[in-house]
Amino acid sequence: MKNKVLVTGGAGYIGSHTCIALHEAGYEMVVYDNLSNSSVEAINRVSALIDRPIDFIQGDIRDKKRLNQVFDEHKFFGVIHFAGLKAVGESVAKPLMYYDNNVSGSITLLEVMMAHQVDNLIFSSSATVYGDPKTLPIDETAPRSCTNPYGQSKLMIEHMLEDLATAYPSLNLISLRYFNPVGAHPSGQIGEDPNDIPNNLMPYISQVAVGKLERLSIFGDDYPTVDGTGVRDFIHVTDLAQGHVAALNYLQQHASSNSSSDAAGSVGFLPINLGTGKGTSVLDLVAAFTKVSKQPIPYQFAARRAGDIASCYASADKAKELLGWEAKLSITEMCQDTWRWQSKNPNGYA
Ligand code: NAD
Ligand code: UD1
Repeated sequence: MKNKVLVTGGAGYIGSHTCIALHEAGYEMVVYDNLSNSSVEAINRVSALIDRPIDFIQGDIRDKKRLNQVFDEHKFFGVIHFAGLKAVGESVAKPLMYYDNNVSGSITLLEVMMAHQVDNLIFSSSATVYGDPKTLPIDETAPRSCTNPYGQSKLMIEHMLEDLATAYPSLNLISLRYFNPVGAHPSGQIGEDPNDIPNNLMPYISQVAVGKLERLSIFGDDYPTVDGTGVRDFIHVTDLAQGHVAALNYLQQHASSNSSSDAAGSVGFLPINLGTGKGTSVLDLVAAFTKVSKQPIPYQFAARRAGDIASCYASADKAKELLGWEAKLSITEMCQDTWRWQSKNPNGYA
């Protein structure tokens, strides 16, 4: 079926929002997730929001037998591949766990796709593959390098996809490089639910605002930026979700349909940034969140975090040109939707 997709990691933060966007765009999906960093409650809530049951399979992308069964049972146009581990610090402590889950898992998934002549893939990559950028904004031709096993796993998968696209010209492999996803569905029903203490800025700020954490530590006040704090390209998760729909629509138009022997119209390996193109500093984000939530957000300056860079923001031109997609939502809307989710669900899905 041309409109049915497999969504690996579809119970997670970005995957759950993308399922809603896919449904609204008329796609059918099967969600495949081992729930290692998510809960079935996210699936239940997505199902309530779209007012229909989700076809959900609890399974691991490294489980080839199970994946083969799923591909035997369904005829997929393509796969949106979110499944992966994403905590940078944990990846430094447990590198093999990251290489096994992210790299081996992707190899197994690709083997099963190829065995079933499913040629279309949208992969969750990250701006982390650009390392410390030499020029800003960052476009897709910028050199790639990574300093931690999480980033390395994304880079290895990208290299693998490039090699596959060379070896098998019928493959259509889009690598979406996300900048900093934040925000939540406007209903406040689904959002980011980090295990433990958040590593990332937005969930940390929102947990301080809701009173779960005492104060924010701002890592570094002496970067060469507008106010000395780090600058990032924050992008609303619902804009990001729409980016996946746009990428899928692109594949529908440009990819040769499910025939490994027919290379006509094939896309090859196509990396695309998903960002807003605008940089926002840590202090600016704290100020915007304070204004929206009307809560105090105490903070202190602390030492720079190892591995952090000063500034990172996208050139979003390629996404606009090829996919006809651009981010629409503002920093204020990102804060409003994060706050709605956080204040309605102070303990996440628990
Ligand atoms: P998430 O942890 O919320 O979602 C990932 C999902 O994958 C989870 O539901 C988890 O249970 C599942 N999963 C992990 N390993 C699996 C396996 N072996 N088999 C089956 N399911 C598995 O993370 P997210 O923020 O939604 O990120 C989705 C993807 O986007 C990840 O690949 C991540 O690396 C990438 N990414 C995320 C960000 C970000 O800031 N959130 C930025 C850039 C890239
Ligand atoms: C981090 C990851 C990156 C990953 C991205 C999205 C690191 C080194 N990098 O990027 O690989 O792709 O998340 O998941 O972990 N900050 C604070 N206090 C905090 C948290 C963050 O000041 O408690 C600052 C950081 O120093 C940075 C900015 O906020 O300047 C954004 O941090 P974060 O949300 O963790 O994202 P990245 O560092 O961009």
